[in-house]
Amino acid sequence: MNYLQIKQGQYEFCFGGKTMRLEFLSNRCFRLYQRTPNRRYYAIESEPISEADVCQSESGLEFGYSQIKVAFDEENRLSVSYFGQESFRAEPYKVSHETENLSLMAMEGHHASRDLNGKGGIRIYADLPIYGMGERSGPLDKRGYDYVNWNTDDPSAHVDTFKSLYQSMPFFIAFRGKTSFGVFLDNTSKSHFDFNKSKRDSILIDFEDGVADYYFFFGSMPEVIQEFTRLTGRNPLVPYWALGAQQCRWSYHDKAELDAVIEGYAVANIPLSAVYLDIDYMDAYKDFTVDASKFPHIQDYLAELRKKDIYVVPIIDAGVKAEEGYFLYDEGVKNGYFSTLDGEIYHNEVWPGDSVFPAFLDEPVQQWWANHIQHMLELGFAGIWNDMNEPASFKGPLPMDVMMGKDMPHRVAHNIYGHHMVKAGAMGFEKAGKRLFQLTRAGYAGTCRYSATWAGDNQSIYDHLRLMLPQLMNMSLSGQAYIGVDIGGFGGDTTPELLTKWAIAAILNPLYRNHSAMGTLPQEPYTLNGDYLLGYRKAVMTRYEILPTLYDELYFAESEGSVPLRPLIYNFPDDSNVLNENTEMMLGESLLIAPSLFPGETKRVCYFPDDFVQFGTWKHYAKGHHIIDVGLTDTPLFLRENGMVVLASAGNDKAKKNDVLRVFLGKNGSSARHFEDDGDGLGYRNGQYNLYHLRNEGGVLRISYLHHGMQSEYQKVILVHLDGKETTMDFVDLILPA
Ligand code: GLC
Repeated sequence: MNYLQIKQGQYEFCFGGKTMRLEFLSNRCFRLYQRTPNRRYYAIESEPISEADVCQSESGLEFGYSQIKVAFDEENRLSVSYFGQESFRAEPYKVSHETENLSLMAMEGHHASRDLNGKGGIRIYADLPIYGMGERSGPLDKRGYDYVNWNTDDPSAHVDTFKSLYQSMPFFIAFRGKTSFGVFLDNTSKSHFDFNKSKRDSILIDFEDGVADYYFFFGSMPEVIQEFTRLTGRNPLVPYWALGAQQCRWSYHDKAELDAVIEGYAVANIPLSAVYLDIDYMDAYKDFTVDASKFPHIQDYLAELRKKDIYVVPIIDAGVKAEEGYFLYDEGVKNGYFSTLDGEIYHNEVWPGDSVFPAFLDEPVQQWWANHIQHMLELGFAGIWNDMNEPASFKGPLPMDVMMGKDMPHRVAHNIYGHHMVKAGAMGFEKAGKRLFQLTRAGYAGTCRYSATWAGDNQSIYDHLRLMLPQLMNMSLSGQAYIGVDIGGFGGDTTPELLTKWAIAAILNPLYRNHSAMGTLPQEPYTLNGDYLLGYRKAVMTRYEILPTLYDELYFAESEGSVPLRPLIYNFPDDSNVLNENTEMMLGESLLIAPSLFPGETKRVCYFPDDFVQFGTWKHYAKGHHIIDVGLTDTPLFLRENGMVVLASAGNDKAKKNDVLRVFLGKNGSSARHFEDDGDGLGYRNGQYNLYHLRNEGGVLRISYLHHGMQSEYQKVILVHLDGKETTMDFVDLILPA
């Protein structure tokens, strides 16, 4: 077989009837893609290329770099090996669709979900546990399921058979311990991933438009994710306040209602860090307006709340009200900033009625939007909640030919529309010089570098409490660090028990936000009583004790590409008991939650992959299966005895650092790293932070600086021993000399 070397590290040859290129991006990643002119990239941040060894023969071609070897043969087969062992074989593939007439079934409202006109993709011969794919319904291990990448706003209950949710993440990990592999299809059109479902021995990938562009990653699961996020970007560290309890509802209509919520929390003695303004704060649902009859003197009001350590985040929707005289509409029309169909501005309907859609894929549109975001931040809003950006539309889906930017028809722009809305938002934060805090509903691979994600409109049902764990764990394994779901469930009426259990189960979620829909029963925790209220409060207080570890993990996610919220298999890759553990999850290496996920349940089975102690009771659990208490006021949170956990002092009710460092010591030899900065702003990017190494040496805590960039705030250290007993020392006495 012949090949051409285009430039250093880039090889071109014919494969599967197409002109393909191959590049090694590191010793753990290569890219195989179809050559095409003028291709634009959205997910990828950087691509260093390395020179490969090439072996050419009559019947094939082999490329090698470090421990990866990729061989192509004349029969259009591809075989990949890593560290001398076959990783997988693959070949070009085209999905053939059902020929049955499904219209009869559709008459009763059934969906067959086989609406993809695949252009052809790849068949990978592998039968392994599958993780990743971002925000999905269904279990942790995706083997046996198929998914469509097409951002979809479907508020009906998200069940296992759903193919698509709000985000598209064409990335997965096929797990095989140290020699796992990952695949990312960087194609923004509609694509279909079938994991050993229609073909038991294979993973099938197919896409509708655009070209083949695959990235293959190799190594352990953490290494694969690290490599993927090195290319696609990472969640920047959120401000410390964003780790606290957040309250939202559609909607708190005016200042009096919002004040009552803040007061309700205070009276119930539950810490609160942030509140959200849903669409009704606006004037007639017009983005970047505040209805002054409901929220007079918004700037003063926001400043007043900030003094009480309450941060306010408003919603911004993708659809812009089409109304002459409305500044945003007028500016957009004048400058040609809205999406068009056949050269005319395209209209559909969203909350404000007749609406138009910014052509977010265009850079000038992003700049324009960023200026408006900057203005919101300068008014004193602390973050931006981006919604309806799939984009959602009430008068049928947008036609495929709507132009969402120059040369960007909806069919290829759809999955990255929300991505570009939050990119524009992030530019607004940059202009305002603020640390980024955005939430988004829609997204694509790489969106996390601009925004965090909440998983859209879940419902107040136990199925969705159970869905939360695998859903968030797979989002995490797709490189999304700061994530969460609506606590208590968004749609439908929650029950006191469901709400309390949800608050407990979510203790380790990076985003901790209670939110519910219009017309549902009030869901704020202070509406609870008795053990429900006690349980909710205890959950929040427990969360506030683990905030330092959560903040550390989010810092390491940005700086090193590690995963904060983890399935057990991430930490225990050799333990086959946890390959598909859907009811427990971990934060970092040493915190594990095993919540109740069923009504009426007060005890459950928990599998401990190592020795753990329970937070609060300090009861010891040896590695293995145990029955644990999961009543309303129990705390099913466990600390790994072979680990060290940095905590805030008991009773801490502020989402900010104080002068006490509290450390669960674990067994002799346990260690941890801990990050300290001022909790907001961008100083840490310029080295204004401390990174500590903490080590238990025979029961004595030793602290050393890995980075010393600011005056430490710590005065005291509280040491928490395995039995929960605490001793207090002076911080300076534990610091090892540099
Ligand atoms: C969408 C959002 C939801 C929000 C509602 C009103 O359904 O997903 O969170 O409350 O719109 O803005």
